[in-house]
Amino acid sequence: MKQVKIGVIGVTGRGVLWKHWHKPEGKSIVAGGADISEDALQKFKSEIKEKVFTTLDYKELLKRKDIDAIAVMTPDFTHEEYAVAALNAGKHVFLEKPMAITTEGCDNILKAWKQSGKKLMIGFNMRHMRIFQTMKDIADTGTIGEIKAVWVRHFVGRGGAWYFRTWMSERKNSTGLLLQKAAHDIDMIHWITGSYTKKVAAFGSLDFYGGNKPNDLTCPECSEKETCTEFESDKHSIKCAFRKAIDVEDNSVMIMELENGIKASYEQCHFSPDYWRNYTFIGTEGRMENLDDTSKVIVKTRRSGKWKEFSDRTYDLKPVEGGHGGADPVISKDFVDMLLTGKEPVSTPEAGRMSVATGCAATESLRNGGKMMYIPLMPDLV
Ligand SMILES: NC(=O)c1ccc[n+]([C@@H]2O[C@H](COP(=O)([O-])OP(=O)(O)OC[C@H]3O[C@@H](n4cnc5c(N)ncnc54)[C@H](O)[C@@H]3O)[C@@H](O)[C@H]2O)c1
Repeated sequence: MKQVKIGVIGVTGRGVLWKHWHKPEGKSIVAGGADISEDALQKFKSEIKEKVFTTLDYKELLKRKDIDAIAVMTPDFTHEEYAVAALNAGKHVFLEKPMAITTEGCDNILKAWKQSGKKLMIGFNMRHMRIFQTMKDIADTGTIGEIKAVWVRHFVGRGGAWYFRTWMSERKNSTGLLLQKAAHDIDMIHWITGSYTKKVAAFGSLDFYGGNKPNDLTCPECSEKETCTEFESDKHSIKCAFRKAIDVEDNSVMIMELENGIKASYEQCHFSPDYWRNYTFIGTEGRMENLDDTSKVIVKTRRSGKWKEFSDRTYDLKPVEGGHGGADPVISKDFVDMLLTGKEPVSTPEAGRMSVATGCAATESLRNGGKMMYIPLMPDLV
């Protein structure tokens, strides 16, 4: 194969990653798109500016012989069905995070993957962000010794617009935000430490969003639009963030013990005014922390009676072009390289499954009084 032909399910929203794949003179081309929205398909067709197959039925896309790989870029509750169907149809698959909304769903995908002999990659684009790659390098080179503690705080500014006005705010679609939003953070903890979670406990509640507003209320028609902090004038069709149907938590904390004994904690709040993921790793010889979202990592090392050169450092990272801190073009290329050259992907199906299994167990814990949960073991995949 010299050029990968990709079909995209879900062509707007996160689906715009297709723009990184559509390179008619290069190594990949987007040959088709499926979506449940006719408007989305029209937008896709007008932007791609070429004759491209489109359909409202994803199964029609899977039947195409001219398509080698499928990118599943749709809401979380569709991932299991679409990924399994695409693998069974003999296609390679790029699957957005979270892999599925249940651990069993992930295990069904893993089974279909193994049976198909095709390639599967998960959309963990944070593994391609320079800031987290820097932290991974620092951990791997042993600069802070053996990691023993991890503390992660996720301040989700714009939680209302991004989560509580959308499908993500209902359990039936996403399970909860310790899965939908934390899937990335849990994966970062696993990836940087090199260890999966063994047990977890969590607390959480809906403290700011949700409420008793009608489910069909939108901002323009709301009597409280002059005073509401969540008012959005430009998103007329987006639902009220205080509607009755909302049933996921907006404020959660979890504690984890990893397989190698590391103790980790994770906090996520959706009504923070600012946006920031703050990661701290403490090892036997030092501590590292990112000081803002993308540009600075500090390392402090323990001093003893012995003089140490370069004991404290700040890594000032240069800005990178491209969505999500430069990660989106790189993860798109990684998928194509995996198919053309057999390069091992940075984001593996096993990692996708363990992140979901941890997020699901944490969600079950917080909805059951914070009881401690063991993470179900990875299935035998021979
Ligand atoms: N890795 C990242 O940084 C990142 C960022 C954003 C979203 N995501 C993931 O991407 C996925 C999509 O999220 P989004 O915010 O773009 O969603 P979205 O609601 O914007 O939907 C994306 C597209 O899918 C279409 N769609 C919706 N339901 C569908 C269905 N049942 N069948 C076919 N098409 C359907 C929509 O019309 C739209 O074109 C989610 O799983 C999310 O977690 C990942």
